Amino acid sequence: MTTATEWFNEARYGMFVHWGVYAVAGRGEWVRNRERIPQDEYVAKYAANFRAEHYDPAEWAALAVEAGMKYVVLTTRHHDGFCLWDTDTTDFNAVKLGPKRDLIRPFAEAMRAAGLKVGFYYSFADWHHPDYPDAYARDWPNGWRDETSRRRFLTFVRAQLEELMTRYGKIDVLWYDGCIPGPTDGAEVNTHVKSLQPDILINERNGPPYDFEVSEQVIRAAEPGKLWEANLTLNDNWGYHPGDRHYKSAQDVVRMLLETAAGAGNLLLNVGPRPDGVIPEESAVILRQAGEWLARNGEFLPNSSRSPFSWNCSGRLTTRGSTVYVHLFHSPGTEFCLAEIGSRVLSARMVATGEAVAFTQSQDQLYLTGLPVPLPDPLVTTIALEVDGPPQALRPQTSFWIPR
Ligand code: GLC
Repeated sequence: MTTATEWFNEARYGMFVHWGVYAVAGRGEWVRNRERIPQDEYVAKYAANFRAEHYDPAEWAALAVEAGMKYVVLTTRHHDGFCLWDTDTTDFNAVKLGPKRDLIRPFAEAMRAAGLKVGFYYSFADWHHPDYPDAYARDWPNGWRDETSRRRFLTFVRAQLEELMTRYGKIDVLWYDGCIPGPTDGAEVNTHVKSLQPDILINERNGPPYDFEVSEQVIRAAEPGKLWEANLTLNDNWGYHPGDRHYKSAQDVVRMLLETAAGAGNLLLNVGPRPDGVIPEESAVILRQAGEWLARNGEFLPNSSRSPFSWNCSGRLTTRGSTVYVHLFHSPGTEFCLAEIGSRVLSARMVATGEAVAFTQSQDQLYLTGLPVPLPDPLVTTIALEVDGPPQALRPQTSFWIPR
């Protein structure tokens, strides 16, 4: 049986899904706060029109699989407080309003059926709750009204987490977000979650005990030996925003994956489905293109290790076991020189075709020779070097300046 740490390291790539009432507005998931929309107006204008009429989580799962992703994390409740599941804790939920059905059960079932791990995002913030200090805070409120109100709020949050952790089978990831003023009684809450879901991986946003760290909208590796994940948007918004055309390209996605893989971390890449439940085609196309590239070149990804190599001007290096992967973004010409490798190279091949790549190695320099110009892969060309043990760099990285 694989442990949670093992599947997480093997996965390296997951889908983040921000979906809720805010999709109806189509101006991102912070719309209620940013536009100071009163709760009754938010319900009448947006929650009532959230229909999820084409929601088919099997389609999401199929896209994730095609994309090469191994787990999916869905917003069970974002900062607006709207619960996508059938909760007893508030009427502000998808069964009482809008879609009039539990959206979480079919999600969990569809992911499992597709062999994907199931992640629940849960925001502590709740703009609709009377005890939440300020729904219109510029970002997050500083303090509680009083201790009674803090206690009431935390009891409510715990009841919600208890539902999520007990009603939907095995949950693989609990992804906290959203600030509430402290103390959040995080240790107690997380210990309780672990007692209900012993194998779950929890992120660090509710304090210890947790399993992995996240870096948001940047790729920043945690200390060696720690599990980590970078979460990024595909355009500039998490929630659906049809006016936001600032999409990353498939090549950007591949580069992000190389970056996270080189730090032995995961990439959680976001999509924001439309209010009817369909993932925007623009996003799907990019994910599929990157997925096709992964299908050709993806052997570097599962269990990638922390690469000891720094940078070069033509691409990026990742490592796994006793293999070094040279990912070329820019053609270096017919030869590529790597003057950083301390391991002896035993063989070299194009990953996509298996074709051997000629090489010569001296004390300091490895030359890959006879490379095709232009490079064969329009996104990134990957060459695998089998080496004589765990990949070594000739000298350690000493400066703090690491260009990307
Ligand atoms: C930020 C945003 C939130 C989003 C989250 C994802 O915290 O406030 O809307 O869900 O990032 O990491």
